[in-house]
Amino acid sequence: MSIGTKSLLSVADLSREGIERLLERASRMKHGQPSQPLQGRTLALLFEKPSLRTRVSFETAMIQLGGHAIYLSPAEVGLGKREPVADVARVLSRYTDAVAARTFDHATLHLLALNAGIPVINALSDIEHPCQALSDLFTIWEKKGRLPGLTLAFVGDSNNVANSLLLASVLTGMNFRIASPHGYAITESVLDQGRGLADSSGSQLTLTSDPCQAVEGADVVYTDVWTSMGQEAEADRRRVAFRGYQVDEGLLRLANEEALFMHPLPAHHGEEISAGLLDHPQSVVFDQAENRLHLQKALLASILAPTPAQVPIQ
Ligand code: CP
Ligand code: NVA
Repeated sequence: MSIGTKSLLSVADLSREGIERLLERASRMKHGQPSQPLQGRTLALLFEKPSLRTRVSFETAMIQLGGHAIYLSPAEVGLGKREPVADVARVLSRYTDAVAARTFDHATLHLLALNAGIPVINALSDIEHPCQALSDLFTIWEKKGRLPGLTLAFVGDSNNVANSLLLASVLTGMNFRIASPHGYAITESVLDQGRGLADSSGSQLTLTSDPCQAVEGADVVYTDVWTSMGQEAEADRRRVAFRGYQVDEGLLRLANEEALFMHPLPAHHGEEISAGLLDHPQSVVFDQAENRLHLQKALLASILAPTPAQVPIQ
């Protein structure tokens, strides 16, 4: 099925070939002639949680492609409170061409997609952050010139970003390692899905509780916050559980000497990363943030303005 008619709720909704085509299109968006294939098109941004990068990159993407975006804050819509999710989806589909939604519960995205009749893009849920992972693949591909055979080491919480990166890595032939403390490991369902994809691509999938084992010889060292949005009440407990999982210069030195350091941002300096690490010579975090724009332009164009000759991206 073409992405032109499908929602993107999980990074695994795409095939390896679909991801490769998306990265090539993102590169053309970044370096080619500007074009405006989305004139007259509108994207609704339906957000239950705060955002800087996702909101601004999607809005800017629509403007640069000739379309519009309408941001709907948590206070405005009251998704599932002021109005049932299904009704919100049905109403938005009468005005707009696609919805990018950021939800607490991944199930809300499925409910939106089931009822919307227009494509729904996961702009972050409790389970996945596919737009982040796809943008990150784009950044790695740009910097390293390839994906297959590279090793990405994730240190920290097995959260939404980690889940999407795991699936994106093994879909595209990268090896994925993750070091998390006991009680914060990848769930069985994501692991099963990842193992199935890794069997097809030949990727290696490694789970450990030892950050040094994960990072040793890796090509990319990645971390994210210990407490994600919606988990604020657990912050103190998590600070204790994740002690020893901070990424600092010493840990980074165990990786390949040309390894990239990545973080989706926002970062908690002095918590999951040592102070100053964002400015380390191996850090690519701001290129990473920029690439959200280019990748999402490619995604929106693929969904809303597929060319007649376009091979389905799926
Ligand atoms: N990385 C990311 O999604 O950032 P925001 O939460 O600011 O959108
Ligand atoms: N894991 C983080 C990612 C933010 C972009 C969160 O969900 O808050």
